[in-house]
Amino acid sequence: MDEQDKEMLRDGRTVVVFGSINQDLSVACERVPRTGETLHGHDFISGAGGKGANQAVAAARIGAVVHMVGAVGADVFGDALVAGLEGDGIGCACVERREDTSTGVAIILRSDGDNRIVLSAGANTALSPAQACRAVDALFERGDACVGSVFLAQGECDLDATAAAIEHAHRRGMYTIFNPAPACSLPAPTWREVDLVCLNETECEQVCGIAPVDEASSRRALEALCRMTGGAAVITLGDRGSAMLSEEGFAQLPARSVEVVDTTAAGDTYLGAFAAMRSLGFPLIDAACEATCASALAVSRLGAQASIPTSDEVTEWIIEQWQNGC
Ligand code: RIB
Repeated sequence: MDEQDKEMLRDGRTVVVFGSINQDLSVACERVPRTGETLHGHDFISGAGGKGANQAVAAARIGAVVHMVGAVGADVFGDALVAGLEGDGIGCACVERREDTSTGVAIILRSDGDNRIVLSAGANTALSPAQACRAVDALFERGDACVGSVFLAQGECDLDATAAAIEHAHRRGMYTIFNPAPACSLPAPTWREVDLVCLNETECEQVCGIAPVDEASSRRALEALCRMTGGAAVITLGDRGSAMLSEEGFAQLPARSVEVVDTTAAGDTYLGAFAAMRSLGFPLIDAACEATCASALAVSRLGAQASIPTSDEVTEWIIEQWQNGC
């Protein structure tokens, strides 16, 4: 697809992300400390994160037109995080600066090829259901969103506001994607306004009660999730790849193997890339392939937003993999 084709598909097709914006403070350690114990860590990094903001950045770097809805505190972290999003070309007119609370902060421990996160949500839970819906309306009024635009939400903001925004966006004709991360659920009527749910193995078990341990259980879980939403479902399965069920049918995609540097934002990169591809008009299976590669590349790099690749980097990496026979 050349640039002109992309522009045509992009015409009026955007990704709106309603989600969290965090400052990540991340330390590597040999193991997780026990109660009352202090351990030496190393390789501290401080960088831009937040599941919502990470997904917005991934969608923008893959080529979508992206608008963010959320909130930060009126502090240095908030200013820098919004400037970073704008630097990626993301519209931040619907990101509020709140004087009454701090910017969200995530304390991340990187250990044993994985991570553990403690989140202080701060401003991320400040938007009310009515404010979230008004932000969606404002994007329509300015022509930044339209029928068919993708609306993407996760579980780090106030859940009532998230549910209200999903319902409102869907009723206005947007294609709604929900990523229940960290694991959370929605009221049954809200699930029916979700066009596609994308979650990992742990979240899958918590949301539908089925652990996707093999192909048969993944299928059963996907069917259960599709019954809840009335739409499509994708389960990311770590080094077992991902499985999806939609009107395009059932598909299981292998993972791409890379040397793991930092898994932070791997799932967010998948979601953002997937949403971008959907907004650009690609079939869901192509969206899942691009998302798999983007997220593999993110895992091979350090940090959250710092690790998210552009679409050109993904293409170069795929070519390299082919040349190396992978
Ligand atoms: O998914 C990774 C993200 O989760 C981090 O960037 C951190 O901010 C937490 O929200």
